[in-house]
Amino acid sequence: MSSDAIVLLKQEHKDLQRLFKDYRALDPAGSAARGELAQQIVHDLLVHSYLVDEVLYPLVSALLRDPAHEALRDYRDHAAIDRLCEEVAARPADDPGFAGLVDALLSAATQQMSQEEREWFPRLRATLRRKDLQEIGVRLLAVRETAPRHRPGPVSGAPQGAPG
Ligand SMILES: [Fe+2]
Repeated sequence: MSSDAIVLLKQEHKDLQRLFKDYRALDPAGSAARGELAQQIVHDLLVHSYLVDEVLYPLVSALLRDPAHEALRDYRDHAAIDRLCEEVAARPADDPGFAGLVDALLSAATQQMSQEEREWFPRLRATLRRKDLQEIGVRLLAVRETAPRHRPGPVSGAPQGAPG
């Protein structure tokens, strides 16, 4: 199996999309099954954001020695998605707002994945050497085993009105 970082991240996107599809196929009245799958999605999304934001991004920045480099300029972090993940994780599946919150999470994540695949991944591919992408991929695979389920720092304790 390829250890190329972009191949790995695209595979994660595919796996996530499959879970999203499974979730949407569940009977909306079956809140227990939906709740369980939603928590699985939250977990996998948080691991995925951790790998991109805390492993891939710093390694790419260091390699390019220029965080404002073209390859990173349109990079958007996963903070908004992480916040939605925390909100879903904190809410019981039979809560009236649960389904809407999960829908918001799935569409935000889907939009971000397609933007990454359309814009960011091709730019990384064009900028980094194959060997670097493979080394980053090896690192991603190693870290994935131990990636935290929650981002460090307070997520829900942010001051009100803090920029998002
Ligand atoms: Fe992604």
